[in-house]
Amino acid sequence: MTDKIFLTAIKGHRTPRPPYWFMRQAGRYLPEYREVRAKAPSFLDFCFTPDLAVEVTLQPLRRYHCDAAILFSDILVVPWAMGQRVAFEEGRGPVLDALESPSRIDHLMAGESAERLAPVYETVSRLRKTLPDEVALIGFAGAPWTIATYMIEGGSSRDFVNTKSWAYGDPEGFEALIDRIIDATVAYLVRQIDAGAETLQLFDSWAGVLPDDEFERWVIAPNRAIVSKVREQRPDVPIIGFPRGAGVMYEAFLEVTGCDAVSLDTTVPPAWASAHLQSRAAVQGNLDPQLVVAGGESMLNAARRIVAALSDGPHVFNLGHGFVPATPPENVALLVDYLRGLDGS
Ligand code: CP3
Repeated sequence: MTDKIFLTAIKGHRTPRPPYWFMRQAGRYLPEYREVRAKAPSFLDFCFTPDLAVEVTLQPLRRYHCDAAILFSDILVVPWAMGQRVAFEEGRGPVLDALESPSRIDHLMAGESAERLAPVYETVSRLRKTLPDEVALIGFAGAPWTIATYMIEGGSSRDFVNTKSWAYGDPEGFEALIDRIIDATVAYLVRQIDAGAETLQLFDSWAGVLPDDEFERWVIAPNRAIVSKVREQRPDVPIIGFPRGAGVMYEAFLEVTGCDAVSLDTTVPPAWASAHLQSRAAVQGNLDPQLVVAGGESMLNAARRIVAALSDGPHVFNLGHGFVPATPPENVALLVDYLRGLDGS
């Protein structure tokens, strides 16, 4: 048994109120985050400085008493550790030295890359010692398809032209890259668990751009491989999958990967999730982050609808995607007042 309401729900049990945390709960919408961020020369240095990463992980907990903390880092630390150049440019987002061809990935490290991420494990371990007993600590990584899109496109993309042409035109070559990312990711996640992470989330942010057969091969299969390899080594840590944009494929994703929980994006109807997913696993989600920008009754009504639709099974309240920088912090406080008020009712 656990006294952490988040872990109770994520392991598949109903709880008196839905526990809550928010994707991107640490970030630019908070003035205290921007203040700390200004102290680091670059975003990667920021992620690799445990004093700063611990501090910004804790900031949203002070304001909102979330039931879980998510490690402050980024999914793109893995390609960096594998040996790719990664930078975050103001106003432009991530910039990577784009991979040129499937036959030219030999320089990329796999499992051994996890050694280079020691500062992240230090952050995890300090957090675990610092967090109050009732707050769970979530570690995370990007899922291979999403990571591959950044490695091949060299940054964010709209159409994924280069990644799709590798995946469709040279599936064996593309699979070699995916396998390398799987090995790097498994080693990284196991180290996070050993440092104190109590749950893991796999972010497949660009899962929703693939047709069904390609989705099976590049989203479902790699997520499944990570879940089973991590479980072989550390069987007791729950894993949340987030195949953002998967639509009706959410069901197959959950069934085949064997994730303990799935995070629902904004487009998934909660009543559909209740009927098709929640009998098998905990669900997390899925308030549109733009509703928190709007605030007021529109936000609260949408939150009430989600809570009502998912109240028959295990539910962790969250957003359907991360907070945007324009989010007024007081709207988050209003949402949290509502969620806390559900206690015992
Ligand atoms: O609070 C948390 O959620 C934990 C920290 C976290 C960050 N990124 C911090 C961050 C997490 C879990 C992520 C995941 C992440 N990073 C994803 C998957 C989730 C999603 O949003 O779909 C992706 C695709 C990335 C890649 C990434 N990192 C991009 C595209 C960008 C630039 C766009 C943007 O939002 O700025 C980042 C930078 C980033 N990662 C910031 C933060 C707080 C902002 C950087 C800054 O402060 O200047």
